[in-house]
Amino acid sequence: SQAVGFVGYRGMVGSVLMQRMVDEGDFATIDPVFFSTSQAGAPAPAFAAGAPALKDAYDLGELAKLAIIVTAQGGEYTAAVHPQLRAAGWDGLWIDAASTLRTRDSSIIVLDPVNRAVIDAGLAGGIKDYIGGNCTVSCMLMGLGGLFKNGLVEWATSMTYQAASGGGARHMRELLTQFGSLNHAVSSELADPASAILDIDRQVLAAQRSPELDASQFGVPLAGNLIPWIDADLGNGQSKEEWKAGVETNKILGRSGADAIVVDGLCVRIGAMRSHSQALTIKLTQDLSIEEITRILDEDNEWSKVVPNTKEDSMRDLTPVAASGTLTVPVGRLRKLEMGPQYLSAFTVGDQLLWGAAEPLRRMLKIALG
Ligand code: HSE
Repeated sequence: SQAVGFVGYRGMVGSVLMQRMVDEGDFATIDPVFFSTSQAGAPAPAFAAGAPALKDAYDLGELAKLAIIVTAQGGEYTAAVHPQLRAAGWDGLWIDAASTLRTRDSSIIVLDPVNRAVIDAGLAGGIKDYIGGNCTVSCMLMGLGGLFKNGLVEWATSMTYQAASGGGARHMRELLTQFGSLNHAVSSELADPASAILDIDRQVLAAQRSPELDASQFGVPLAGNLIPWIDADLGNGQSKEEWKAGVETNKILGRSGADAIVVDGLCVRIGAMRSHSQALTIKLTQDLSIEEITRILDEDNEWSKVVPNTKEDSMRDLTPVAASGTLTVPVGRLRKLEMGPQYLSAFTVGDQLLWGAAEPLRRMLKIALG
């Protein structure tokens, strides 16, 4: 069987990827070689019995022995190692979760339930870099791919509600620590049903504004708050996360120039744990019925699931709590807006670590192995 190198398998995305590979029995079909940036020489992980001891993730010679490398080590590692490997003549497949190489012409963004044809054309054409998409974009296209693939979207605007996990593991811990600190600040008042809610609110606000509150990861409190900016400031009023929506959606779909679909919106961090949500307004290219739209979305892939547009169904099935830890991407709140019959409202939620990060890489590895 084929030797495959794995870098960054112990981080958050890497751990989710490893768990999915264990669940699917993927290790039975490959000879995994694990790399570490800090623990070279230590035993390989128990889930891959028989794998050699960890190799140094900066050892170009060891890396270059492999025909396929999968990395979830992060963008800095990619920036440091990938150019050196290529310069040394390595022409293996590089499968990566980081954004570093994502929008290059020499890369394909992988989301095979949506763009298998683009991936196959890339493999046939000698493309060697296969990169997972931005989590928000991947989750949107898993939910609403049917409309995009069938050329039914004239433009779309997405207002996001992004979870703490998008920042990383430390950001998730910070959010939970903040929730605890805020609760602690008012716990005795909360326990007393006769206490005044405005006093509690004042104390919570004081705790949120206090320099004592640990907000070192996000920079400002997220618990009981939101942050209307994600990723770099591009200097034109747009965040990098917002820029990615349009650029990556079109690259995944294989569209460019006059063929591109305008996708733009506003990205917001909220205090959810690991599932990103987004509210979309879509201008359809034609007046489709909600029944027809439902059929197209449900039939597009086995993971998108239309949630009936009722209060009860939406509250139960269309939330980060409902979607987290599952591969199902619920899509709901489907309704024609007052702007006219071609204006569709939609809301979708996806696990940011599964379809948003690990799962497209796992599936790309399977495709590469043939
Ligand atoms: N940039 C995303 C976020 C995560 O911060 O939520 C990775 O795609």
